[in-house]
Amino acid sequence: MSEEPEVRVEVARTADPELIDAVARLLPQLSSSAALPTAYDLETIIESPATTLFVARDGRAGIVGMLTLAVFKAPTGVRAWIEDVVVDGAARGRGIGEALVQAALETAQRAEARTVDLTSRPERAEANRLYERLGFERRASNLWRFSLGS
Ligand SMILES: CC(C)(COP(=O)(O)OP(=O)(O)OC[C@H]1O[C@@H](n2cnc3c(N)ncnc32)[C@H](O)[C@@H]1OP(=O)(O)O)[C@@H](O)C(=O)NCCC(=O)NCCS
Repeated sequence: MSEEPEVRVEVARTADPELIDAVARLLPQLSSSAALPTAYDLETIIESPATTLFVARDGRAGIVGMLTLAVFKAPTGVRAWIEDVVVDGAARGRGIGEALVQAALETAQRAEARTVDLTSRPERAEANRLYERLGFERRASNLWRFSLGS
């Protein structure tokens, strides 16, 4: 039996074809309604000082996971949000989701964020177990959303 190749988490630096293809493969595994980001959209995320796009790279399959971290200053202090965590179906259960979240937590800590928030629907059982295992605590707060259309 062949060993699983090593997986590295890195910060995406260019919206090159590899990244665009990987996002096109990963995003539908997270959301059936989100439109695929264009190269310009990805470049905007990469260039913004407020956002970091992490990718997990497997020596054999290329990019197999991603996560976006947003860090911003509010009157109560620096806050961080994790969005769009997804690992390719064929690469799950190998600690890649954990490695992506850990990388985001380290970056948020270096930015002196007070908190790191995220949301995850209850039916996302694997995701909720992952966050709990890594030390996230469920908050008693209402989650509100105002949809502004497309
Ligand atoms: C949630 C998600 C990102 C987790 O990714 P993952 O790479 O499978 O995550 P991990 O491997 O770190 O953890 C998942 C399981 O693998 C196990 N695991 C962790 N490290 C492992 C390793 N080195 N070897 C084998 N299994 C391992 C964990 O124990 C965990 O199982 P448990 O939670 O039952 O204990 C992935 O399931 C996914 O993309 N789901 C669809 C999209 C989604 O729901 N995203 C979250 C939005 S909030």
